[in-house]
Amino acid sequence: MRHIVIREMKESDIPHVVEIENISFSTPWSSHSFLREIYKPYSISMVALIGDRILGYICAEMIIDEAHILNLAVHPDFRRMGVGSLLVSRLLEEVERKGCRYIYLEVRTSNLAAKRLYERFNFKVVGVRRHYYVHPDEDALIMMLELSH
Ligand code: ACO
Repeated sequence: MRHIVIREMKESDIPHVVEIENISFSTPWSSHSFLREIYKPYSISMVALIGDRILGYICAEMIIDEAHILNLAVHPDFRRMGVGSLLVSRLLEEVERKGCRYIYLEVRTSNLAAKRLYERFNFKVVGVRRHYYVHPDEDALIMMLELSH
């Protein structure tokens, strides 16, 4: 595969990001949600590209020494090629550099692809949020990684 670039998400990326969002989730974020993320002071939003084609994105927020992954998706045509892993790995570097010690996320209990991806980075299941998701109703697994300093 040609060289994948990871960079900060820009306002002009949002229409392409929303296209991926809409095919990836049953309750997708709106353009406005992404817009809010990119201008929030303690947030990180990044996209993965080949040339000017957006392949995927990740959004996270930071509160003191904790980061929280809020969103991650890769276009179906580019899944299983390491794009999701590259986004997670770049995010981990960034939040660690900014002083975070812990990183959390929620994932649907049935989402084996995402769960496996995060397990490969040593995230562990630390709890369950009952009925966290709608369409369909489902529990969330809370996963956490302690970052080394
Ligand atoms: N089935 C089983 N394991 C999988 C799958 C799958 N379909 N997809 C990824 N994995 C695991 C594998 O261990 C894989 O390694 P391997 O290919 O060497 O076996 C590893 O994850 C890394 O895969 P990547 O290629 O880096 O992941 P990809 O670029 O395909 O992105 C993602 C994974 C983001 C979960 C993608 O499937 C996607 O966009 N899904 C829909 C949206 C989604 O569920 N996002 C996560 C929500 S949770 C959250 O945001 C906190």
